[in-house]
Amino acid sequence: MTREDAAAPWSRLWKAGVLHSCATGIQGNYDGAIRAFWERQFDALDDGARVVDLGTGNGPLLLLARERAAARGVGLELHGVDLADIDPVHAIVDGERLYAGIRFHPRTSACELPFADGEVDMLCSQFGFEYAPREQAVAELLRVARPRARIALVVHSDDSIVARVSVEQRKGCAFLRASPVIEHARALVPVLYRAAQARRAGTAPPDGEARRLAFNQAAQALLEAIDAMPGAQVLRNTAQQIRAALEHAARAPEQADALLARLHESLQDEDLRLGHLQDALLGAGELEALAARLREHGYATTHAALEQRPGVKIGWSLEAVRG
Ligand SMILES: C[S@@+](CC[C@H](N)C(=O)[O-])C[C@H]1O[C@@H](n2cnc3c(N)ncnc32)[C@H](O)[C@@H]1O
Repeated sequence: MTREDAAAPWSRLWKAGVLHSCATGIQGNYDGAIRAFWERQFDALDDGARVVDLGTGNGPLLLLARERAAARGVGLELHGVDLADIDPVHAIVDGERLYAGIRFHPRTSACELPFADGEVDMLCSQFGFEYAPREQAVAELLRVARPRARIALVVHSDDSIVARVSVEQRKGCAFLRASPVIEHARALVPVLYRAAQARRAGTAPPDGEARRLAFNQAAQALLEAIDAMPGAQVLRNTAQQIRAALEHAARAPEQADALLARLHESLQDEDLRLGHLQDALLGAGELEALAARLREHGYATTHAALEQRPGVKIGWSLEAVRG
């Protein structure tokens, strides 16, 4: 698989305009303990510091950094790097104003940063760094870090709520991969359209019984899967989106079909991204090994479980500073 292929499901997610990858769990930008962790990191930076966010997506972390710096009356030089073909300025509403002054580096790996040796004051990442090949990414991070740099990471842990939800979601995706429900919904669109036309003309409805039956059976199986897998939000979202698409069938069949085709594609992407997430999970031993690697290079490290709410672990935080 090429690098572009691997990044494609992320490129499409960011172009769809979500601000961050926890969009279903957190409204707006990051909040709670995640925000508190990042505020502490950004508050430690001097005026003019160069900050590089790895796996930035649509740059939510850089927006936090800038907001925090503005509150302290300092300026930061902000860069966002991502392997995906990101373009936050155009993907996010009011992007030009929102991201003014922030530089994004699309199609750029955390393992090949566009900076010379020792010219970055802070390397940060929120659920991004761990998606890159670990050893190469660490070496690159150490290469570009200034002698007194700060490294701050929030990474996935294998026992977090995010990891648990990903298992449920993948079960839902597996069900949908095998289910003909979207295909049957697409086949039903012209039936619904012709039936609506006949109603408008006062003529007898054309026969579409077989297609209705096929769709109803597949839809029934989806409803049963929703009951059987309550943790798979993807199933409920899919049912809602099929319903919403079919509401257009009577008057705008092309639109209904396009919505269903897009839904099919977005489910494939979701499954691929969940696979990447599961490959990126770190156990306690891997986190400790990462911290030890940084200590070998003179960093003092602190790492901890990061809880979004009491008892709800969202990942690991790792902070490394070199005095
Ligand atoms: C879960 S998203 C996180 C995005 C963002 N940090 C956020 O908080 O919303 C992971 C991101 O890592 C990016 N990524 C994966 N491998 C990468 C690599 N080798 N170098 C840079 N970015 C990478 C993906 O394209 C994706 O945008």
